[in-house]
Amino acid sequence: MPEFIIVNPQAEKHIALIQLNRSKELNALNLQLMQELRDALKELDNNDEVRAIIITGNEKAFAAGADIKQMAGKSAIDMLNIDQFSTWDQIKKTKKPLIAAVCGFALGGGCELMMHCDLIVASETARIGQPEIKIGVMPGAGGTQRLTRAVGKALAMEVVLTGRFLTAEEALKAGLINKIVPNEMCLREAFALAKNIAAQSPVAVKLAKEAVLAAFNTSLDEGLILERKNFYLCFASEDQKEGMNAFIEKRTPDFKGK
Ligand code: CAA
Repeated sequence: MPEFIIVNPQAEKHIALIQLNRSKELNALNLQLMQELRDALKELDNNDEVRAIIITGNEKAFAAGADIKQMAGKSAIDMLNIDQFSTWDQIKKTKKPLIAAVCGFALGGGCELMMHCDLIVASETARIGQPEIKIGVMPGAGGTQRLTRAVGKALAMEVVLTGRFLTAEEALKAGLINKIVPNEMCLREAFALAKNIAAQSPVAVKLAKEAVLAAFNTSLDEGLILERKNFYLCFASEDQKEGMNAFIEKRTPDFKGK
């Protein structure tokens, strides 16, 4: 049983919920928590019943970053040997859609974990940033790259070099998050998004997620080739026949993920 996360594989039909559960430490992401998260995501990714995964924290914090107390005394070689980011590399490979429901602080590694998610619902209380500069380091789990791609150089530089927190409004305006809702609606809104995605073809969703993410890693031409191959691959699924027949027969499709 994980100690620092709570996993519900069927919080709603086809929707899994992972809650980060180190609330006294504002969900600081220690090594064990990240390993538990990696293992849970791998299991849920392999569970055919699961079509979307929500990651959330609590009212005060999504996550306030990597665990500073765990890192403070480490040398560069300790950090190299611990190789904490290999856990993140595995999380990055999750094929099913990840939705972050963010209340309160999403800082440092917390912001980076949020940015590993495909859709982000934030509450009005969300405070988002990469404050590592204030403790003598810099982002290490993708912050300089993912934030810059999401919000552009000017704002990313400001956030990374000053450590200033963005409000939810600023994050929305910059294109970093999808929606802002009142605190008490945050999880409900994440479930609404997840439910919408879970009603689609899981095969098409997986292939579409892969194609969108490829836009960050490839040239336009390479991305277009991948998109085309994934589009053709959809036609190998029963879901494609079901989706198109349902349209023609004017009924709701019943996708099976096959
Ligand atoms: N690591 C370890 N412990 C943390 C933590 C973190 N990242 N963030 C908060 N905590 C702990 C605090 O030490 C405190 O513990 P104690 O009660 O034992 O003292 C508890 O959580 C509550 O925190 P505060 O009392 O500080 O709460 P606050 O409301 O006054 O302030 C805050 C909230 C502004 C988020 C403040 O806690 C803070 O600045 N936290 C650190 C944020 C940060 O620098 N994150 C980046 C970490 S480095 C990183 O993430 C590297 C990477 O790229 C992977």
